Amino acid sequence: MGQTGGISEPEALETVALTPRIGSQVMVDKEALLSGRHAAQIRALLIQRGAVVVRGVALDDEDLRTVARTLGDLRIGSARRGADGAILSEGDGGVLRVTLDERRNPEYARFLFGNQLWHMDGTYEEVPPFATLLAPVRLSQRGGDTLFANTAAAFADLPEEEQRGLEKLRVVHTMQAALFPAKRDCTVEEFALWSSYPQRSHPLVWQHRSGVRSLVLSTSGAYVEGMEPAESHDLLQRLMIHATQDRYVYRHKWQPGDLAIWDNTATMHRVEPFDRDSGRELHRCTLNGEEPVTAPI
Ligand code: OGA
Ligand code: MN
Repeated sequence: MGQTGGISEPEALETVALTPRIGSQVMVDKEALLSGRHAAQIRALLIQRGAVVVRGVALDDEDLRTVARTLGDLRIGSARRGADGAILSEGDGGVLRVTLDERRNPEYARFLFGNQLWHMDGTYEEVPPFATLLAPVRLSQRGGDTLFANTAAAFADLPEEEQRGLEKLRVVHTMQAALFPAKRDCTVEEFALWSSYPQRSHPLVWQHRSGVRSLVLSTSGAYVEGMEPAESHDLLQRLMIHATQDRYVYRHKWQPGDLAIWDNTATMHRVEPFDRDSGRELHRCTLNGEEPVTAPI
């Protein structure tokens, strides 16, 4: 198997669609996953299906880094600079602890409540991350599912005339837009801290090198440049509702040993609210972006 006239072919990879429009499970064992021999196929699947899940692989931090490196450029260190000049680290050698427990992650925990709203990661960066890998360390009893929405499928289903209109627009992404809806009772100081982070304007429609077009939507999207505020608000709300309909969404119910990976450039994600005292913690690797957000011509 794998040898045809001297040319080696990649082993076939068994995959199962989790919903019609987003999410595939890959049937590989831990050894095969760590070896990287399916990496090209998993990458392709990620771009095609938005989210990829592997069950029963129980990766430790070193394993997680290894798998991440087979798929792309593992982010080490930080891409963000805090308002006070402090660099927010992406975690221990490229592994970030995703938890609301400030003792487990003193730098980030105070921002991660925003993960409960639909978002893309790294919209403040010129080149947003390509993909994210998440593996559970401790799960909550209730809540805590992670949901993924396919923003390429959502764009593809819009009437062509509307697509052409959206392709001309740009949206400004800010941290206060991302966080305030998740913490309406924040202090003035917190709001001021969020507002001090750099903001970033991106085209609303991303023309990917692959040919795919997707909506660059996220709760961080504060307003459409040059549009009347009320009109901008209505448009972004309407698109958010459109893109998060059940038919574009895969809900991941975590089991110990899972690995979930998503294409951050053509999906949004969110975590379902969960009990803060649960100690829910997942470990995350981020793969650096490979192309800037580019508008269709
Ligand atoms: C993230 C994120 C969701 C979750 O790590 O970027 O949004 O389920 N996590 O914890
Ligand atoms: Mn996120």
